[in-house]
Amino acid sequence: MNPIYKISAPSNIALLKYWGKIHGQFAINPSLSFTLSNAETLLSYSYTKRDDRKIVIQSLMFEGKPHEDFKNKLEIKFESLFSKIEYPFGCDLFLETENTFPHSSGIASSASSMAAMAKMFAAIFKISSDNIVSSMARELSGSACRSINYGWHFWGESKFYLESNQQHAVNITKFVHPGFHNLQDWIFICSNNVKGLSSSDGHKLMENHRFLSQRIQSTQSRLEKFVRLLKVTPNLDFFELVEEEALELHALMMTSNPPYILMEPKSLAIMKKISLLRKQGIHCGYTLDAGSAVHLLFPKDQLGLVSRYFEENYFGHRGQDFVDVLFDECRLS
Ligand code: PMV
Repeated sequence: MNPIYKISAPSNIALLKYWGKIHGQFAINPSLSFTLSNAETLLSYSYTKRDDRKIVIQSLMFEGKPHEDFKNKLEIKFESLFSKIEYPFGCDLFLETENTFPHSSGIASSASSMAAMAKMFAAIFKISSDNIVSSMARELSGSACRSINYGWHFWGESKFYLESNQQHAVNITKFVHPGFHNLQDWIFICSNNVKGLSSSDGHKLMENHRFLSQRIQSTQSRLEKFVRLLKVTPNLDFFELVEEEALELHALMMTSNPPYILMEPKSLAIMKKISLLRKQGIHCGYTLDAGSAVHLLFPKDQLGLVSRYFEENYFGHRGQDFVDVLFDECRLS
């Protein structure tokens, strides 16, 4: 009986969004995110060495059931990863994976699940450099490179963060004001439907996007603003910037060829309410990933005010104005 090992990796939410690839698994623009406390992937695995150099998934259980689709997708990703890197031996893998967040919640599971896979290979092949593990995770799914460790991460090349680069993410928590260290993230699930377009297909549509050069420019100038605003106590300008970026991501989707919309009527209703909340002076804002879920972000010192607003039903009722809500927050370690 081979020993069974356990590994976990957190999901993350990006404020500056990676959208579009270049030269394989590199991003057309820099991205910035923080890891979540309650949303993570738990991976149990065992392995046996093979005489050839193949990496073969012998079995894959996802949330207690065999999952052929996921297994096939993983095999393609592993093949691509191991065509690019040096590794000492092949192996047969026996995997069991689950997420601590609901499947259709709108939290990107690729970040945490691919980060967990990269950490598994690091353990099997005795790779101790986090930078190499982050780079391996990037090959499996771009956003996963920001989920190897906890905290705030930046992926891309920028003069603002020394040692930042395209290969792997860098931890930027020390450059982020403590007021952001316990940022709250309430995730409003706005639909049970499987989203209309996968992130991989969304990235592809950026290749010939008519606003590609504008997107590259705007992420550069927005990065400069993020760097400045993350150094001081969370303020209204910061949350306006966060929303601007989320809306731009979805505007790119709506102006791609073919265009598509991932937001649902419930998403829009909640987004408007959050903007209203900010107009009342509460420091908060929303962000969106590639889906219909709305992430309400606010510093912990606003918890009382936001909770009161929430309890007074301005966000409507579970099942009516939203499907569910997950209460999460930034995790640093
Ligand atoms: O890592 P991918 O290929 O699933 O892309 C993720 C893209 C976004 O979640 C929309 C943005 C981001 O930077 O996490």
